[in-house]
Amino acid sequence: MIFYETPPDEDKRGLVERMKKLLGIIASARKIGNAEIITKAVAEKLGSGWELSLVRLPNISLMPCKGCYACILPGGRCRINDDTEWLLALINEADAVICAAPNYLLGPAGIVKMFTDRALQAMKYRASYNKKPMAVVLTMGREKYRGYADTGLATQLMSLRLHIVDLEIFIGTFPGEVAVAADFHEKIERMANALATAEPTPVAADRCPRCRSDLFRLRDSEMECGICRARAKIEVGKLAFYYFDPEYGEEGQDGHARWLIAKKIEYDKTKDGLIKIQEKYRGGKWLIPGA
Ligand SMILES: Cc1cc2nc3c(=O)[nH]c(=O)nc-3n(C[C@H](O)[C@H](O)[C@H](O)COP(=O)(O)O)c2cc1C
Repeated sequence: MIFYETPPDEDKRGLVERMKKLLGIIASARKIGNAEIITKAVAEKLGSGWELSLVRLPNISLMPCKGCYACILPGGRCRINDDTEWLLALINEADAVICAAPNYLLGPAGIVKMFTDRALQAMKYRASYNKKPMAVVLTMGREKYRGYADTGLATQLMSLRLHIVDLEIFIGTFPGEVAVAADFHEKIERMANALATAEPTPVAADRCPRCRSDLFRLRDSEMECGICRARAKIEVGKLAFYYFDPEYGEEGQDGHARWLIAKKIEYDKTKDGLIKIQEKYRGGKWLIPGA
């Protein structure tokens, strides 16, 4: 792993243009695998003004969220002793972020969810995160087995509230195979450009223009985005979006954060009644490996 260097004195005085920091979050354990190669190819395309640092998610300590909500209260912090806060701070220091994950069994590699399940802890970085461009990369072996992996990956990363500027899918089974595809360089260039400019790439017509999901539910003879509940009519075989639920806009998400804090405070006042219910269900035959 390369760590960021302290900027030289000239840099601090603004005499030398600062190297921009690209953080690559690799959700694959495969060394020099497709996720890693794509991330390095994007860094190469960005050019000499950018410095790439890499974090391999399966190699750091990420524990499951305990659901205590301690981190959401003003001044509160997560009590789990792992590397989540370290990674959230690295993201905060970066100018742009790529998260590249393989498709495992029709969904994104589970290690990404382990990380993003801790996203409530990232609320304190909201003001800087929502301006920070992030590109999302899915690597996978066969188009027929895409499942919900690309939408799932973008959805999980959305919870960090970074500015998602691109979602690209790369197909290849063996390490390095993605770079053989005819459209490899086109995708790399599109992603590098989106990260450098913070301008989102155009969203394909069969995806939700807000969250890039391509999973929809049938609602009143119309389509509803399975993630952010945007509504579309089907017009001459195309999705015509006409409603975006404000709950999933910036203000709606801020409102949800406030709602969570209010619920946490409400719980502290009302928990006595709930504890009586819990008491009835205390205990059980819990099995532990090796016991
Ligand atoms: C356990 C496992 C499950 C996989 N499941 C799928 C899948 O459901 N769909 C798919 O297209 N590829 C699947 N693949 C293939 C990988 O997604 C593909 O090889 C990818 O390029 C790996 O990226 P990496 O080199 O960055 O790890 C699976 C691979 C493994 C090891």
